[in-house]
Amino acid sequence: MLNQLLGIKYPIIQGAMANIATAEFAAAVSEQGAMGIIATGAMTVEQARESIHKARVLTTKPFGVNVMLMHPDVDAMMEMICQEKVDLVTCGAGNPGKYIAALKESGSKIFPVVASVALAKRMERIGVDGLIVEGGESGGHVGQQTTMALVPQVCDAVSIPVVAAGGIADGRGFNAALSLGAIGVQIGTVLLASEECPIHENYKQAVLKAKDTDTVVTGQSQNAPVRILKNAMSRQYIKEERNGANREVLEKLTLGGLRRAVQDGDIKHGSVMMGQIAGLVHEVKSLSDIFEDLMQDSRTQFQALEKKMEAIQC
Ligand SMILES: Cc1cc2nc3c(=O)[nH]c(=O)nc-3n(C[C@H](O)[C@H](O)[C@H](O)COP(=O)(O)O)c2cc1C
Repeated sequence: MLNQLLGIKYPIIQGAMANIATAEFAAAVSEQGAMGIIATGAMTVEQARESIHKARVLTTKPFGVNVMLMHPDVDAMMEMICQEKVDLVTCGAGNPGKYIAALKESGSKIFPVVASVALAKRMERIGVDGLIVEGGESGGHVGQQTTMALVPQVCDAVSIPVVAAGGIADGRGFNAALSLGAIGVQIGTVLLASEECPIHENYKQAVLKAKDTDTVVTGQSQNAPVRILKNAMSRQYIKEERNGANREVLEKLTLGGLRRAVQDGDIKHGSVMMGQIAGLVHEVKSLSDIFEDLMQDSRTQFQALEKKMEAIQC
């Protein structure tokens, strides 16, 4: 299981969340027994290095770093991460092939985020340690496949450990992920509604208020799909996309949008990233309660499942 592989209490990775998953947040997650991840997507290399140092002061437990491979300084970022020797590196938006040897030499485990069987197989061939298989239900940058369909197909196609992500917020989702073949989960949206999450109160309330149909995927026309809350900005964005607007026009709408939502609490015009599972998140809880409740719910739901199986007479 993922907890044994990473030396943590719960088989749970905190999803990287640019502008949100700071050193303090990642360290708090690690302190509570899951795998904290510092998101470097919106950081400079030096800011990321300082964040790693800060997290090391705040926790002695394992934590990781997420690198977006489209980061303008990705080479320098990876070099710094190798120097800092972090426990886990997750990465998205590209192929980490050229960094694998150096990362391994530095002692990091590498789990790229993948959204297709083809990419999963390619990642296994280049020697990564495991995969985070993310369905399009999730918040932030998303692929086209659903968690339900993608995870078992990837599990059949590779023999390295698989972590499921996208649409998981309680014991049912956790158990489903294990049934599909995963050894653990990565969660993002449910952690937005944690006491420790450093987002504006308006953002947290938006997560609590969101229903199953309240998110939408923008950026399809730009080959950069992102799942966000439906609001004035996303409506305008989709309208412009339908009218064939070019990248420049669309980027103007989203530029700094996540920061506006996270820091200023502008949930009308900001990029309020969250996943479809927000509809299942009804209260703000401490990280400790989120993890403990999820595992307890998993056990309860497992017993209920056993009863259902017994009732199947054939
Ligand atoms: C606000 C937000 C920001 C995110 N930013 C990143 C990121 O910077 N890098 C990344 O690899 N994934 C990012 N993700 C995806 C998460 O790491 C995680 O895989 C996803 O949230 C899991 O699905 P869920 O939201 O349904 O729990 C982000 C997700 C959210 C909700």
